[in-house]
Amino acid sequence: MADGQISPRKAINLADYTPPVFLVDEVALDFTLDPAATIVRATLNLRRQAPGPLALDGRDLELLSIKLNGEALGGNRYVLTESSLTLDDVPDVFTLETEVKIIPETNTELSGLYMSGTGFFTQCEPEGFRKITFFPDRPDVMARYKVTLRADQSKYPVLLSNGNNTASGAAGTQIWATWEDPHPKPSYLFALVAADLVAVKDSFTTASGREVALGIWVAAGDETRCGHAMYALKNAMKWDEDTFGLEYDLDIFNIAAVSDFNAGAMENKGLNIFNTAYVLASPATATDADFQGVERVIAHEYFHNWTGDRVTCRDWFQLSLKEGLTVFRDQEYMADQFSAAVKRISDVRSLRATQFRDDAGPLAHPVRPASYLEINNFYTTTIYEKGAEVVRMYRTLIGREAFRKGMDIYIAENDNSAATVEDFFAAMQAATAIDLKQIMRWYEQAGTPEVSFDESHDPAAQTYTLTLRQHTAPTPGQPVKQPFMIPVAMGLLDATGRDIHTETLILAQPEQSFTFHNISEPPTPSLFRNFSAPVKLQGQSRQRLAFLAAKDTDLFNRWDAMQQYATLVLLDAVKAHQAGQAFALDAGLLEAVTATLRDAARDPAFAAEALLLPAETLLADAMSIVDPDAIRFVREAARKALGETLREDFFAAYAQFAAVAASDVSGHAIASRALKNAALGYLSAAGDTTLAGAQFLSGENMTDTLAALVNVAELADERRDDAFASFYDQWRANALVLDKWFSVQARAGAPDTLARVQALTKHKDFDLRNPNRVRALIGAFAANPSKFHEASGAGYQLLADTIFTLDETNPQIAARLTTAMGSWRRYDTARQSLMKAQLERILAKEKLSPNTYEMASKALA
Ligand code: PHE
Ligand code: ZN
Repeated sequence: MADGQISPRKAINLADYTPPVFLVDEVALDFTLDPAATIVRATLNLRRQAPGPLALDGRDLELLSIKLNGEALGGNRYVLTESSLTLDDVPDVFTLETEVKIIPETNTELSGLYMSGTGFFTQCEPEGFRKITFFPDRPDVMARYKVTLRADQSKYPVLLSNGNNTASGAAGTQIWATWEDPHPKPSYLFALVAADLVAVKDSFTTASGREVALGIWVAAGDETRCGHAMYALKNAMKWDEDTFGLEYDLDIFNIAAVSDFNAGAMENKGLNIFNTAYVLASPATATDADFQGVERVIAHEYFHNWTGDRVTCRDWFQLSLKEGLTVFRDQEYMADQFSAAVKRISDVRSLRATQFRDDAGPLAHPVRPASYLEINNFYTTTIYEKGAEVVRMYRTLIGREAFRKGMDIYIAENDNSAATVEDFFAAMQAATAIDLKQIMRWYEQAGTPEVSFDESHDPAAQTYTLTLRQHTAPTPGQPVKQPFMIPVAMGLLDATGRDIHTETLILAQPEQSFTFHNISEPPTPSLFRNFSAPVKLQGQSRQRLAFLAAKDTDLFNRWDAMQQYATLVLLDAVKAHQAGQAFALDAGLLEAVTATLRDAARDPAFAAEALLLPAETLLADAMSIVDPDAIRFVREAARKALGETLREDFFAAYAQFAAVAASDVSGHAIASRALKNAALGYLSAAGDTTLAGAQFLSGENMTDTLAALVNVAELADERRDDAFASFYDQWRANALVLDKWFSVQARAGAPDTLARVQALTKHKDFDLRNPNRVRALIGAFAANPSKFHEASGAGYQLLADTIFTLDETNPQIAARLTTAMGSWRRYDTARQSLMKAQLERILAKEKLSPNTYEMASKALA
């Protein structure tokens, strides 16, 4: 460890959990808000639960006064450290009053109370509340809150907190407002906003006839871009009533948008705080994907009201209990809005690209980790997306009806309490006769199982036997894996593609055989339909894949077969390229793309997904030594060859799907644009860039403008430079659109991308203090495989330089960027040593945050 480094935090272990010594029944908070010196007075009604001292969490707080049952305490009555306040000798029931000073304007971590623009905002999950006041800052302490906010009326006319606004007033230039939340909640769900905002208002009547006042609070001028968020909120409220019988439980629901935010959004009780990126959308400024992102995140945070707020987590090891379940709920919601198959396809695409990759590297961890240094590092795709897959597997195993019953039990048994993964399991088990015990391994073991199969057909007995095997490679700290309980939704197809049998098998042992009767001809199995388990299926022949891609009745598997087929073909082409051979387009791939394109009108949204070749990162995952240049070369060569060979078809498709109004964001319009822009991509790859240029100029719809710009970005000449200059001139004042300007440049495959990104880090609009901008430039660049991994190592250096500086102001975002080098062992020795050197340089930094320390040290371990 380098001199002067903060000693890394001690690991926190699930096995060490002990219940809180004191509970807090009520808390009253009084804020006098000032950017340079905010005073927080807290009154806690405490009640003993177990023997021991009262230990409160607190960081970056200046203690001004402390009273116990009204009596001021001298310094000999408590012990104050960097992170705690401990009182040894206290009664069993008492009131504690503290007064602290905090400095929001220097809070660059964006956790706790901070300034964004000219307003005050909070972010308390997971451990931000301890930066606001002394408190047992752990989710199993649930209290009722009464909050009074006081601020300068001219600067902060809007004062919001959780629950209901029970009183307000003015005193001179100051205004004040009191908010009371009748529902007990953990400290991580506390929120306040004090800012100059305007509201878009609406209302929702619940199933039982209660009127809920809805408000979306944004900066003046942004009101016109809140329509989709409000639509989504009301739609999600209704959906949760219809689907899960869950009704909103307060008379008011507010959303406040903030432009500096570490994550997407936050489910604070009755006062969600949102990254502007997930609130503001208009067809001129937001892409169709952005619209869907707004809807998904609005629904997600709203759904947390029950799965997160009313039923919360006992400790942070249980994070997936609320996040996995709530992601599952938002996935189901979105599937009901558009096409369920297309939604599933895009979810699985990103699960494979991110979670599968993490699960295969040094940062792999179970859905319920056993240990962490810094909980902020565990807001991962494993906790969220794999956690959602685990919830989905429960439903696949026990069926929809039992699952709904299990949800009812889960909510009823755990309402207003802090639950564990075992509580969710118990509720589901109570709803079914199937023994679910083994499903717990999905929470305990990291890694992606690999499933292979053998089959045999006996014409005389008319039986078909399928033998399935599972194997999971070791992950850090888990050398040996126990078998998982794997639901295998499957069908057997006859030679014409008709289903002759469908069933959900349960693979629970290392190897298991299943025999099917009355099967006269050798069938083709279609396994893991609709992606029934987060596993890798191996050993499918090309011939099989081609058949399934053309015939499977399961839309997801049809798409997947085509992806797997393309993956095999492209990996072979990579080998050929490495051996110095010229690229040749595979006839089967051409045939599949042709068929998809000619059939596109039947389901353009599906066809648009099916036309996309597997991403470079997916091809990389399948190679033992990743060759990012060869992957890029081959994938582009395939796109070019397809574009050239099918030029007429792509032009026809482009024309056929172009007639959609710029302002139309219906499912039909989104699907049409997706197909049209898929065609544009192939035509551009084949050198027909005039079309992209024309589309860029005529754009009144951001989806179309951006799709065109992405293609123009590949041209390393003045056509590209002119397009980016004009885009900048048009959109420089709109932060969210300017983020796109940065990120399209960072994602480009053009040869000068690295140099351009280096220059953009010096651009006057690049701002390390704004997480959205950092993600748009540096995050996007680190996800550009061939450019980030440029052989010189300059890409690694650029990332490490950013992490170095950013760690001092925002360690959460710095730590997150570090994960981009987590897969260093998968590359050739030259790249390995370059990445390793940067990770070591980061680790040697003086005063490195525990956040980045954890990620860099685990990446190197
Ligand atoms: N709990 C938030 C969500 O997923 C995410 C979040 C975590 C936001 C930590 C901020 C900080 O809905
Ligand atoms: Zn969430």
